[in-house]
Amino acid sequence: MKYDIKDLKLAKEGKLRIEWAEERMPVLRLIRERFKKEKPLKGTVIACCLHVTTETANLAITLKAGGADVRLCASNPLSTQDSVTASLVKDYKIPTFAVNGEDNKRYYSHINAVLDAKPNITMDDGADLVSMIHKKRQNLAEYILAGTEETTTGVIRLRSLEKKGLLLFPVFAINDAQTKHFFDNRYGTGQSTIDGILRATNVLLSGCKFVVCGYGWCGRGVAMRASGMGANVIVCEVDPLKALEAVMDGYRVMPIDCAAKEGDVFLSTTGDINVIDTKHFIKMKDGAIVANSGHFDVEINVKGLKKMSKKTRKMKQFVNEYTLKNGRRVNVLGDGRLINLAAAEGHPASVMDMSFANQALTSEFIKKNAGRLKKQVYKVPLNIDEKVARLKLKAMGVQIDTLTQEQKEYLASWQLGT
Ligand code: ADE
Repeated sequence: MKYDIKDLKLAKEGKLRIEWAEERMPVLRLIRERFKKEKPLKGTVIACCLHVTTETANLAITLKAGGADVRLCASNPLSTQDSVTASLVKDYKIPTFAVNGEDNKRYYSHINAVLDAKPNITMDDGADLVSMIHKKRQNLAEYILAGTEETTTGVIRLRSLEKKGLLLFPVFAINDAQTKHFFDNRYGTGQSTIDGILRATNVLLSGCKFVVCGYGWCGRGVAMRASGMGANVIVCEVDPLKALEAVMDGYRVMPIDCAAKEGDVFLSTTGDINVIDTKHFIKMKDGAIVANSGHFDVEINVKGLKKMSKKTRKMKQFVNEYTLKNGRRVNVLGDGRLINLAAAEGHPASVMDMSFANQALTSEFIKKNAGRLKKQVYKVPLNIDEKVARLKLKAMGVQIDTLTQEQKEYLASWQLGT
């Protein structure tokens, strides 16, 4: 079996950590039990390019239990948990290609290594597999039944391919399932981003001015959690509806140009490029902290910051200090890469449980509907989304009401009123 990981000797630690996550993923566990019996993915090669964490390990093990031949590589060079890769190879015999801190060349060689297996399903977090196939390995499209995409940034790339008429195979936007983005993006990114910032810096959030750029589901989550810890949250937005929502949620809203002068901690979570740029660094207070939790490391202009600095020091793990020519210092966390996975462990297992249940059930759906799908970006079928919600509630021991016949008829009628 081919693989490329850091050190097989880390497998014992990795196995226990995978088990720790599994305990918190009851929905995925249920799916795994059924998959073991029914083998709905038998004969399917699945190439996964995901953050290689304990939660992803549980997804890979579930897909394998369903009969799939699974290959895994990283969707970010800094998020790989090396003990997890060791256990995946040693204990679960899943070919894994991921090393924490890998350079660009090795990162892309790993993407190509999983694609060499001629996958029938691609499973992306950020669309790097799809992008590689469309740019350089179009011949692989003939083997692919469909792909899945985990994150907002990836879905944006896919919609761009679809709009230009270039999409070579169907892809499911897992991110857009309600049981994904309402929970994973809001509560997962919300908590793990704060966790990453605190692990890297140990700053006191209480009383600090915390600037959140982007008020999508991730931004909302981070703002809510920072505020809950006593920070004074400022939101920067370009979308008037989201900006209005932030105002009504009780935050100050202003352009980043103004916020730059006020903030103590800055967090970008927009999915766009150079959101925090050189003209903003120059206005920042001495000692400002800047971090990103968007998928790619493009949101903070770190290259520009380097150029305008006279000195750089690594203060501690995940903290680089840049001294500007005006003498003020700006601290960048995790090289501007997504801080929740670079300095912390990513979203907690109990929220990834729902995201990855959508991935597993959508893979099964793809296999069942092979040949019937078009080259377009699909939503996760509503029955899968609802099933995940029901299973999660059940696992949490929460019961809900059902409509009476009278209530159903009332809702279905246009005649009934006061
Ligand atoms: N994305 C964000 N958090 C994650 C995690 N814990 N595992 C896999 N992908 C993630």
